[in-house]
Amino acid sequence: MPQNIAWDAAGVLRCLDLLAACTDQEGEITRLFLTPAHAKAVALVRGWMQEAGLHTKLDPSGTLVGTRHVPDAPSLLIGSHIDTVRGAGRYDGCLGVILGIALAARLRDTPLRYGLEIRAFGDEEGVRFPITLTGAHATAGNFDPAWLSAADSDGITLRQALENFGLDVQALVEGACTADRVFAYLEIHIEQGPVLEAANAPLGVVTAINGAKRFSVTLTGQAGHAGTVPMAARQDALVAASEMVLAVRRVALAHPGVVATVGRLSVFPGATNVIPGACTFTIDLRAPEDGLRNTAEHKIFAALEAAAQTHGVRLESACLHEAPATACDARLQAHLAKSLSQNGFLPIRLPSGAGHDAMAVASLCPVGMLFVRCAGGISHHADESVTEADVAAALDVMTRALQTLNPADFGTP
Ligand code: HGY
Ligand code: MN
Ligand code: MN
Repeated sequence: MPQNIAWDAAGVLRCLDLLAACTDQEGEITRLFLTPAHAKAVALVRGWMQEAGLHTKLDPSGTLVGTRHVPDAPSLLIGSHIDTVRGAGRYDGCLGVILGIALAARLRDTPLRYGLEIRAFGDEEGVRFPITLTGAHATAGNFDPAWLSAADSDGITLRQALENFGLDVQALVEGACTADRVFAYLEIHIEQGPVLEAANAPLGVVTAINGAKRFSVTLTGQAGHAGTVPMAARQDALVAASEMVLAVRRVALAHPGVVATVGRLSVFPGATNVIPGACTFTIDLRAPEDGLRNTAEHKIFAALEAAAQTHGVRLESACLHEAPATACDARLQAHLAKSLSQNGFLPIRLPSGAGHDAMAVASLCPVGMLFVRCAGGISHHADESVTEADVAAALDVMTRALQTLNPADFGTP
């Protein structure tokens, strides 16, 4: 455990380099929910929270919480996630958690009108289980017990994984993770897009977060001998899926603002000389407005049904996740923009194409987000990068924002 972190930009980046070593896959950054890498990351981040003077606990949803309690005052939540996609970069999510700890350390001796809770969520990406934003939903009091039966690719259920991690599932179900007396939530996150770099701006205020829906699609055709079944007689699940993947792309291109991705596709039985009898794939569908996203969804599934008909395969689908488009609170936007201006930065405002924990926390309290420029907008990739100067800018702007934030402006909860 590194001691005496200098809570400046260089110290933040050093923590992120150390955190990057907590991985489930040698040679890359892959840190999935409730795995040994997650446990290592919790231990590391917990030590830094304690060094920053925070009282720490690991809540039953696997969220690590660092608290500075102020008697008879509401709290400000600052959070993001420490889980990653497979083959991730080192800044998505983690930057916001370490910056939150650095802010708590910097303000340790500054009187505040509110308490602070830094939350390191363990599942934002939704890679291990077919659910997502688990910790943020639990924080907002919206954990759905049905999620406990969700299973990973080894058949381990969320319930088993939580128990194996040493967590109290009953307490989770009874709402023990719900944050109380929270007046606002702030999340600092890399932009994961090109806008700030194109504007030559280190930071930006997020106006809204695109709504997202995730689906699983299962196609059942007829497996058969690759050498003997005539082409015209086949019910080839992979051929049908291939047509469907192109249809997903075609519909998205026809609706400006919509983005749709087939990120995972599996073929069964997966042998060279067997006609694919079954195929499963996922669809990630997003848009700035829910109405536009719903229109695209209907068009996509009409195209999938038509392709299933053409190829004589059965189509089944399920919605795995739905997060409505989330507006960031206007007062928090204005407060962050003012802090940006007072620190000499252009108060650029921009929407988020990526999803964030803030979407789930928004049902609990007003949410605000600050974006940090990342090179080339690259993310969900090892080449993800930020500069020390931009991290320093984020620290200074957020320090000012926290020093001047007043819970009374948000109607004390
Ligand atoms: O998918 C997303 O937008 C986020 O990175 N989970
Ligand atoms: Mn991500
Ligand atoms: Mn993220």
